Order: sequence, then structure tokens, then C-alpha cells
Amino acid sequence: MRILVAGGTGAVGRRLVPMLVAAGHDVTGLGRSPGRLELLRATGARALAADVLDASALRRVVADAAPDVVVHQLTDLSAAVPADNGRVRREGTRNLVDAALAAGVRRMLAQSISWAYAPGEGPAEEPVPLDVDAPGPRASMVGSVAALEAAVAEVETHVVLRYGILYGPGTWYAPDGAVAAALAGRPDAPPFLGSLRPGPDVSSFLHVDDAARAAVAALEWPSGPVNVVDDEPAAGRDWLPVLSGALGVPAPAPVDDAERTPWARGASNALARARGWAPRWGSWREGFPAMTATPGAGDAGGAGGPGSAGGPGGAGGSIPAGGRERTAAEARA
Ligand SMILES: NC(=O)c1ccc[n+]([C@@H]2O[C@H](COP(=O)([O-])OP(=O)(O)OC[C@H]3O[C@@H](n4cnc5c(N)ncnc54)[C@H](OP(=O)(O)O)[C@@H]3O)[C@@H](O)[C@H]2O)c1
Repeated sequence: MRILVAGGTGAVGRRLVPMLVAAGHDVTGLGRSPGRLELLRATGARALAADVLDASALRRVVADAAPDVVVHQLTDLSAAVPADNGRVRREGTRNLVDAALAAGVRRMLAQSISWAYAPGEGPAEEPVPLDVDAPGPRASMVGSVAALEAAVAEVETHVVLRYGILYGPGTWYAPDGAVAAALAGRPDAPPFLGSLRPGPDVSSFLHVDDAARAAVAALEWPSGPVNVVDDEPAAGRDWLPVLSGALGVPAPAPVDDAERTPWARGASNALARARGWAPRWGSWREGFPAMTATPGAGDAGGAGGPGSAGGPGGAGGSIPAGGRERTAAEARA
């Protein structure tokens, strides 16, 4: 198939593009950074520069690539500014869908998140509605997710991959990432979004290689949203000490929050498993330590998984350098 990966130079895209090339597809990666695009070319893919916020330029690039499938792996979280990411979700996705439809594309996959569900008990399954009535900053984040998912649904066959918090090479949870710097108390720690509160709030994690493998599998899936998360949704008080130990940084002191934030419930991967995908890293318990077991391993993209090193990663907390810790409810974008 001819496949266009928008966000091909990103944390997931860099792992996904070589997998698609290895599977025999004709792959074009899209991004902005010339250096990152050059790395994509070295994997055997074509690489094109375009800003997805420039609708007419994007339309030309997509028409030239003439893809059978468009894969959306775009995010704009490098500065951890939720409004930037919201703009890419709303305007960037709108432009990409318009360009895809104009080019006659009939199948699209898109990256979404698994923590935008409405409050409830236990890990959320896909029929749970998005938390569109959420108060405060979460309303804006959930609204942008809903806009992304609605736009993608205009394409004849559309699969929305609701990823867990990403960890592994190139993510905030990598040994060289923002989370390790924040946990180490480094004053120059870059900002990230999420929560490092060792309390009852539950998250679902996902290794970037498992995220990429799900996108390959989803080329054959029917329309609709699918949670792509590991097997063990977990409370911060359980996963944070394991992450801290893996990163070799101090574990934050447990907090005694009495109540879980009602939406912080994790997600179930039963549907993705029923479609034949299974995480190689079934739990962060093995995945976090593997990030540092073989330093540098897995950074070139590709397999990962138990026995093959993989990398650190994740997405989520929010401790702007020198700032107070935000709660999960405030922070995640
Ligand atoms: N589910 C999750 O937990 C999750 C999801 C996404 C991100 N994150 C976290 O956020 C960290 C940083 O995020 P990031 O957004 O910088 O991710 P990234 O994975 O490095 O980049 C995302 C991709 O989107 C592209 N992109 C962004 N804005 C664009 C635009 N206007 N036009 C064209 N392409 C555009 C980027 O291109 P360029 O390479 O040219 O910039 C890149 O290919 C990640 O490392 C991860 O830890 C977590």
C-alpha cells in the first residue's frame, strides 16, 4: 500500500515508518524538521516537509503522495503547551482530513489518547463517552480530542488509536527525558504534561514500539476507536516507585489522597486484543526497567519488547521546571 505517515518524524512515527517499510509498503513520512526528515529517508521511506497548519501546502503534498492510507501521528507537545497541541488536533487534523478526502483517500488511522473518558469505575472500554462535560482545562483538552476523532470519522474507513501514556525512546519517560529530570529535581528540567503524584489516580501505559505495532495492525481493522494500552492500568503509588527505580532517581513521597480523580481510571485493551494485537510489553513493571537495562538500545526504531531492550518513554506528568506539581486532573493534555 502507499501510506502517508503525518508525524513520521515523531516519537511513534520514527518507530512506525521502518516497520511499514519492512512490511513492503511504499511509505512517505511527513514532518517539519529537516534533520529528522533526513533520518526517515535513511530508513527507505520518502520524506516530505509540510506544516499541517498550512492547508493549501498540505493539500499539495498529500495529492503528490497519492496515498491509499493516511496515518495521523501528529502531536505538538515539544514545549508541553496544551494550546499548541490542541491546535494541531483541531486545525491540523481538519486540514489533513480535507487533504486526504481531496486526494481520494478512503482509509485513515489517527493517534488519540485513552484518558479522555468520562468518569467511572474501572478501566474504560471504547463505548464509554468522552468526558466532554469536564470542568476547567480538561474541557479544552477533551474537546480537541473529540474534534480530532470526529474529523477522522469523515473518511470512509477510520480507525482511532486511543494510546496509553507513551514511554520508550524519545518520550518524556525516557532516561534522558523530562520526567527523569523532574524526579531528579534538576532546575533545568524541561516541562511535560501529566502527573507524578504517587496517589490513587490510575493510568494506562504503552511502549512506543507497541504503539507503532498497533498502527501496523490497524491497517486491516474496521472503523472505530480502539484503546491501545498495556495490560496493567495502575495507580501512581504503584507505578511511580518502579519508574523512579528504573531511572535511578528518588521516588517521590507517597501522597495520602483519599479519593481517585474520577476520570483517572485507566483503559481496557480487550478490543485491541480481540483484533489480534497484544503488547510485547504487557506491563510497565517490565517495560520501565528495560528502558535502562541496555542504555541506548532501541533508539533506531523497530521491534523492542521483552528480551530486546526497548526504550523509555511515556507521556504524561506535568512539573514545569521550578514550578509546583500539578495534579493529573489539571495537567494532562
Ligand atoms: N499518548 C501519549 O502519551 C503521547 C502522545 C504524543 C506525545 N507524547 C509525549 O510528548 C512528547 C513530545 O511530543 P511531540 O509532540 O514533540 O512529539 P513527537 O512525537 O516528537 O512529534 C510529533 C510529530 O508531529 C509532527 N508535527 C507537529 N506539529 C506539526 C505541524 N504543525 N506540521 C507538521 N508536522 C507536525 C512532528 O514533526 P517535527 O518532527 O518536524 O517536529 C512530529 O513528526 C513525546 O516524546 C511523548 O513523550 C505522549
